[in-house]
Amino acid sequence: MKAQSIFIASIIALLTTSCTKKEPIDDLINDRLERSVQQYELMAESLRNQPDRLPRTIDKEGKLVSSGSDWWCSGFMPGTLWYLYEYGKDEKMLDAARDYTARVEKEKYNKGTHDLGFMLYCSFGNGYRLTGDTAYRSALLTGAESLATRFNPITGCIKSWNSNEKWQFPVIIDNMMNLEFLLWASEASGNPTFKDICISHANKTIENHFRSDYSSYHVISYDTITGSVEKKNTHQGYNDESAWARGQAWGLYGYTVMYRETKDPAYLEQAKHIAGFIINHPRLPADKIPYWDFDAPEIPDAKRDASAGAIIASALIELSGYVDKELGKQYLNVAETQIRTLSSPEYFAEKGTNGNFILKHSVGHLPGNSEVDVPLTYADYYYIEALLRYKNLNLAN
Ligand code: GLY
Repeated sequence: MKAQSIFIASIIALLTTSCTKKEPIDDLINDRLERSVQQYELMAESLRNQPDRLPRTIDKEGKLVSSGSDWWCSGFMPGTLWYLYEYGKDEKMLDAARDYTARVEKEKYNKGTHDLGFMLYCSFGNGYRLTGDTAYRSALLTGAESLATRFNPITGCIKSWNSNEKWQFPVIIDNMMNLEFLLWASEASGNPTFKDICISHANKTIENHFRSDYSSYHVISYDTITGSVEKKNTHQGYNDESAWARGQAWGLYGYTVMYRETKDPAYLEQAKHIAGFIINHPRLPADKIPYWDFDAPEIPDAKRDASAGAIIASALIELSGYVDKELGKQYLNVAETQIRTLSSPEYFAEKGTNGNFILKHSVGHLPGNSEVDVPLTYADYYYIEALLRYKNLNLAN
């Protein structure tokens, strides 16, 4: 009887091991890229006949919600199409990428937002990188001029949102994501002002946005007369002193890019400190997809934010190439876990479901009760970017 129980227990153990055996990461990435191509073909088709619309999210019934090009996320879906074209080299995907990129073009004149990096560099930037189309280059340079008008030499920063009753000169940590665009513009145009703006903005942000544990505030508002800090607040986080997950992700990604483009070791140190805060955080779940805010009081029942997980994964993969081997391995382990989690049925949508978005479970603005636990274009964009970065890493080794 005893021998029989041991035998059964061994069989169960064997079955459990073989069932939980990890799929090789290369196979998993290739499979999810293929499925993402199919999903985004459906997505592109769904708005084909509405030439001024771009996908945004889904409503409570699961129906696609679209936006105009002035929504801050308008560049992500075209950017994802470019990445998927880069992967599959399929002409249909190229046509879709061109179509949806053109929908964003008028934003190159938009001086009312700081989000032109997201809107134009993800769309036109990837389009230019992959095709060399000079019309794309020209649209990008016009957009960079528009964005640079928001820089103020007194505060030393690019203004995120326009002045309002609450803030004189609000700068959000997300603004670090515009710098890659301006650094490109500096190189492409030979105009050093764009780069000077980036360095000033990044240095001021190190000075004022970060706490001693290297978590960051969401909103820092500056006094426009003295240039000093007026207020330290949040807008999308749990409270002023909390660590809003996506904000930490934007900071990590932004300083990684600043180091890549300037080779200033201060930016590498900043990126490593932010990475340390994130990956060693006691409330980062084992599957490495953050709760929407590291300080959300409802943890462990708080909503997860797939977008923050995807942005962090992509940034860690790049950062792993700039640090010593041991630390690089730690970053890649976290990024691989994030990729595996986001590629699981919990997050990765079945074809034709989820409004044709790739990932489920992102959080846009929880305190505003907007876009909570829904698909979002930027989660898809940075997830696909992370897959391609991880794949290229493996090809290089
Ligand atoms: N404002 C950009 C974001 O929600 O992350």
